Amino acid sequence: MLVHGAKNSALPILAASILCTSECVLHNCPALTDVGTSVEILETLGCRIKRTGTDLWVDPTGVSNGDVPDGLMRKMRSSIVLLGAIVSKLGQARLTFPGGCELGPRPIDLHLEALRKMGLHIEEDGGSLVCAVRGRLHGEVLRLKFPSVGATENLMIAASCAQGTTVICNAAREPEICDLADFLNRCGAKVAGAGGRTVTVEGVERLHGCEHRIIPDRIVAATYLAAAAATGSALEVRGVEPEHLSAVLSTLEETGCTVRTEPGRVALAAPSRLRPVRLLSTRPYPGFPTDAQAPLMAAAATAEGESVFVENIFESRYKHAPELCRMGAEICIRGRVASVRGVPALHGAQVAAPDLRGGAALVIAGLAADGETRVSGLEHIDRGYERLEQALAAAGANIRRMEREGKHG
Ligand code: EPZ
Repeated sequence: MLVHGAKNSALPILAASILCTSECVLHNCPALTDVGTSVEILETLGCRIKRTGTDLWVDPTGVSNGDVPDGLMRKMRSSIVLLGAIVSKLGQARLTFPGGCELGPRPIDLHLEALRKMGLHIEEDGGSLVCAVRGRLHGEVLRLKFPSVGATENLMIAASCAQGTTVICNAAREPEICDLADFLNRCGAKVAGAGGRTVTVEGVERLHGCEHRIIPDRIVAATYLAAAAATGSALEVRGVEPEHLSAVLSTLEETGCTVRTEPGRVALAAPSRLRPVRLLSTRPYPGFPTDAQAPLMAAAATAEGESVFVENIFESRYKHAPELCRMGAEICIRGRVASVRGVPALHGAQVAAPDLRGGAALVIAGLAADGETRVSGLEHIDRGYERLEQALAAAGANIRRMEREGKHG
């Protein structure tokens, strides 16, 4: 199975492209609804964008409007990452608190605290943020209380054209941070240390456009591999960077899967029944990624024994558990801890995707279950997976997308 470009890399890179004074071409850009929303927002700001296949051509030279419509802001969480780019480009911005998955409170305090320190004046006006800076943002030493991915990205972008040098301490280290840094440096920025705990950005006058290939989506790869593990299958995933997945691969090996990697490929062969995962704790990268927790829980639901999950990143990221229980899974949630007692088999049921990765988990469970499963709420899944049902069907899964039932359906 071929892995498409990373959603969580494409979104901050699209935000950063606003800063460029000439065109950008983004290769391997996934066709996802979240990317579509980003494109809509950039066009509202004045960008011209066109897609040919997996290439996105962005002309940001017409950006003149700093107000992001509320409806678009609410459609996804990552829209807050636009703030640094817009105020750097225009000196002012107006946007509302971001939406996105319901994973518990999605505060943006780390973003706002650091941007205020860089000189951005932010007023909260009934759910809207009215932001302005006189002249340019100035470089600062910024210490993040938590290695927030979005805050690190927002600040890297804001610092790229700030006056002076910015040091981001306790930065997120995800591969998407490195991809954003590569994009910014290709545009003439001076970003150093991405992927480590401290990122240093020396502000430059302006950024020019560039061509950039977006990294593969490590969470989509993890999802495909979890589907193979859950169904006792052998599967090869291509167009992936194995080292971006090492925590997931070692967990899959713990369940009894054999994993073989070479540059750009991962081959997995699963046993007919998985062993349980003794303890799966989600952590900032390079720890086990929170986005792969739900897909792995679906696989663990039929393992031979009890698996224990601890979700350390988001407060409420087990909404897929009750849906899995409707399929016969035995899952007990106590706060951040989920204990999954493996059952011999799941049975098909009508289930509803609660969020993006929870939806993918229900598809995985449906592939492993006896009988037919109907998953509703595909709009969640389409935010982060390109035609998931086609990709899985091409690998041998018995899955199809039901056209939306009529109003009497
Ligand atoms: C990014 O979200 C990803 N989204 C998420 O993927 C991913 O789960 C998350 O990073 C962690 O890896 C995109 O990149 C678009 P955070 P983000 O800021 O930036 C708290 C998916 O399924 N926090 O690292 O929002 C926050 O509440 C999505 O593709 C603050 O308290 O994640 C959370 O508990 C879901 N204050 C924790 O930090 C802030 O100002 C991690 O958030 C910011 C975050």
